[in-house]
Amino acid sequence: MRIPDYPSAESHKWSQVDSYFSGLLAPEDDVLKVSLAENAKAGMPAHDVSASQGKMLALFIAMTGASRVLEIGTLGGYSTIWMARALPDSGRVVTIEANERHAAVAISNIERAGLGNSVDVHVGTALDVLPNIARDMDKPFDLIFIDADKPNNPNYLQWSLKLSRPGTVIIADNVVRGGAVADPDSEDANVLGVREFLAMVAENPDLDATAIQTVGEKGWDGFSLIRVK
Ligand code: DHB
Ligand code: MG
Repeated sequence: MRIPDYPSAESHKWSQVDSYFSGLLAPEDDVLKVSLAENAKAGMPAHDVSASQGKMLALFIAMTGASRVLEIGTLGGYSTIWMARALPDSGRVVTIEANERHAAVAISNIERAGLGNSVDVHVGTALDVLPNIARDMDKPFDLIFIDADKPNNPNYLQWSLKLSRPGTVIIADNVVRGGAVADPDSEDANVLGVREFLAMVAENPDLDATAIQTVGEKGWDGFSLIRVK
């Protein structure tokens, strides 16, 4: 399922306000603009975070002092660039992309951004790659951004918990599913993945969480923000 567009009178206002906010507070430089253009040229879905959302991820990193960041779902590396730019000098983003073509574009975007030394792109299915990351990891991640195939969100949560410490922040993108997330009868695999993920979060006494709906240039969506206690 793709997040539907809402061709309401409001949706273009959401985009206008988004571009006003991001123009002021999260302006895109040429590196970010070219990355989006390269992603589009490669035929990727426009599932990148918005500039304001990228800035939000960067702020979360700065606010928590995160230096070890895990991203599940690189796509073309747009969010990766926002996050890597927010790291301290010694920081690293480890990011996983299942689609080889998308990963190649991401690597080139990240290199163009001058961030090749602070980002590790792992090409492969996250469920194949995560055990290797766990094996090679010397310290847990400080912040984890889950933004890949939604049916696997419950698995990604389990892996995130294995790779976390108390205080780790976990952010999951795209939890609204066009409103279907609130439908207990939905049979959509993406909705089921998000709902099971949220149920697991809710019943885990070691996690504290919220979920926030958003509107903007990406339409109606939202994210879940989780803290490991
Ligand atoms: C979808 C996935 C994303 O990661 C995103 O940012 C937007 C939409 C989707 O599967 O529809
Ligand atoms: Mg997303």
